Amino acid sequence: MLADAGFELRPGGLESTREQLMGLVRGAVAIVADPSVPIDSAVLDRAGPDLRIVANFAVGTDNVDLEECRRRGIIVTNTPGVLTNATAELALTLTMAAARLTSQAELTLRAGLWRGWDPAGHLGLELSGATFGIAGLGRIGQRYAELIRPLAGRILYVARTPKPEVEQRLGAEHCELDDLLTASDVVSLHVPGGPETSGMLDGRRLALMQSHAILINTGRGTLVDAGALASALAAGDLGAAGLDVYENEPEVPSSLLGAPRCVLLPHIGSATTKARAEMARMVAREVIAVSTGGDPVHRVV
Ligand code: NAP
Ligand code: GLV
Repeated sequence: MLADAGFELRPGGLESTREQLMGLVRGAVAIVADPSVPIDSAVLDRAGPDLRIVANFAVGTDNVDLEECRRRGIIVTNTPGVLTNATAELALTLTMAAARLTSQAELTLRAGLWRGWDPAGHLGLELSGATFGIAGLGRIGQRYAELIRPLAGRILYVARTPKPEVEQRLGAEHCELDDLLTASDVVSLHVPGGPETSGMLDGRRLALMQSHAILINTGRGTLVDAGALASALAAGDLGAAGLDVYENEPEVPSSLLGAPRCVLLPHIGSATTKARAEMARMVAREVIAVSTGGDPVHRVV
């Protein structure tokens, strides 16, 4: 779409260094960034005065210095909604996989260590009747709540504002984060990244979770203290974890790689063919609209 609209494209591949990306943005009118590319004042300086829009190829915008964009009059857009199903479905996948320890069980089989049906082997958490705690009951958190509803005994949630409509529709109960952590068998994180939520699940809060409980994170790596999580798993203070996101992607902390009962995925929440195609179209439409003097549809700044 962008090429057809006459834009000169300068694609930065996954192997690009920060210096190479800095070279690519020089004189750009638009930057399309994925959620692991920091768009800070140094990048904005390098782009220069022609830059009109940062179109984030993601719904989360914690990689973009929003205040600096606002100050400079640069528009920032994101891709809400079209990846809600895909990401909620991945959170469900991680929930099932972590509850039943599937990564560990498959590794045992592939390593040739399976010795037969074991009455006490690979015992996981039964989800039917479980209490689910959802941190962040926005688009993705609500879709996750709908998906787990048939299994859930109880659904607890935290959000900045109570959601009476969702409470009525799904039987969800609003509570404080500490109470949610103490009461839940499954905790799934769906809040955005950024300074407000950084370290939301620190060592103290992880210690509130029950020793059989599982933690799912498809939000952002910054939400969870990875070292404290790995220690809790190793000590048997937490049942299992399922993670899709990490603080310094694509780096994955070695403590997590070595932790037991931990399902680790490489940030694939929105990775369905349908979601990624719609995200791409959305990004292209925003760039074309802004650079031809029109209004973007999903403006964050
Ligand atoms: P959303 O609709 O804006 O939902 C965010 C929810 O978080 C809202 O319920 C909001 O509360 C709540 N919240 C925000 N700050 C909070 C805080 N400090 N304390 C408690 N609750 C807080 O966003 P979304 O579309 O569902 O996306 C959520 C996040 O998922 C994204 O920001 C991104 O980080 C992540 N994500 C990851 C992937 C992946 O590939 N793994 C894919 C897509 C998205 P209110 O409703 O009261 O405002
Ligand atoms: C992906 O992580 C997104 O925020 O869309």
